[in-house]
Amino acid sequence: MRSFLAAHLGVPVVAAQVQGGGFTPGIAVRLDLGGEWVFVKAIPVGHPLAAKYRTEAATAVRLPRQVPAPRLRWHGDQAGWVVLIFDDVAGTHPDLSPGSPDIGITVAALSAMTEILTPTPAGDLPSTSATRGRWLRGWAELSQSLPDDLGDWERRHLPVLADLESRWLGGADGSTLVHGDIRPDNLLITSAGTVMVVDWAQPGNGAAWQDITDLIPHLIMAGHTPQAAETTLTGVPAWEAVPPDVITGYAAAYAGYWTRMARRPDPPGVPHLRAYQRRASQAALAWTKYRTS
Ligand SMILES: Nc1ncnc2c1ncn2[C@@H]1O[C@H](COP(=O)(O)OP(=O)(O)O)[C@@H](O)[C@H]1O
Ligand SMILES: [Mg+2]
Repeated sequence: MRSFLAAHLGVPVVAAQVQGGGFTPGIAVRLDLGGEWVFVKAIPVGHPLAAKYRTEAATAVRLPRQVPAPRLRWHGDQAGWVVLIFDDVAGTHPDLSPGSPDIGITVAALSAMTEILTPTPAGDLPSTSATRGRWLRGWAELSQSLPDDLGDWERRHLPVLADLESRWLGGADGSTLVHGDIRPDNLLITSAGTVMVVDWAQPGNGAAWQDITDLIPHLIMAGHTPQAAETTLTGVPAWEAVPPDVITGYAAAYAGYWTRMARRPDPPGVPHLRAYQRRASQAALAWTKYRTS
């Protein structure tokens, strides 16, 4: 891979570190070009996910400078690959476990980012209702063909869950550029304590609460109770402004999405995705139970 990149990018590559954080079967690699590091993402042009890489490039170039995201240095097609070259970020994913100092700075960074991205700098993007609304659901579909291993609580509450899961759409519209895929592996905290947001491949325009609220299932996965996870967002304007039933609907939609997806066969080249989705579905279910009990 290193020689491929050296040959096709026309630069000598001194060292390469493959980044395994995400779930996309493309290349994600930090490259040492001889004292200067860059981060390269690439995927074959014919791959079904290539369009996401192009969306990411189109979004990254439009982000205002104040947004804490690595600068896209170059993008284009090279030798049959869609290639994106970013400034490198030396950092680690935030630790969202209870008591972690990363939580406060992550919440503050996402809250500030949302304000910078309102009004959206990319007015022609589709709305989040159109983008995320297509996949962020599951209970109605699960009701049509009931999996044998569906839990008792889910089975008993299926009609309620199927009703709830579309309610977040009633609060989804807005004039903020929403990242749409906020989770620890798309965040990097530098040694100086700066939170950088990467992987802008699922953007949409919508209500400001969505990105910050996406931390909640991940806080629960990291060991928070649902109540404690929500408490970490206290005082964030976008969170405080959302009608409660919109958030309850959002929790149910995530629970339905992950419950549905975790039961699909493994996609080729992505071995750990379903196990992750099973854990995520448990967290989102705990959140939904907390909000509906
Ligand atoms: N600019 C960057 N500098 C250093 N590492 C990065 C950079 N952008 C992303 N990464 C790392 O690479 C991983 C995969 O990149 P990401 O853009 O999230 O792609 P994927 O589509 O595979 O999720 C991230 O989880 C992160 O750890
Ligand atoms: Mg990612």
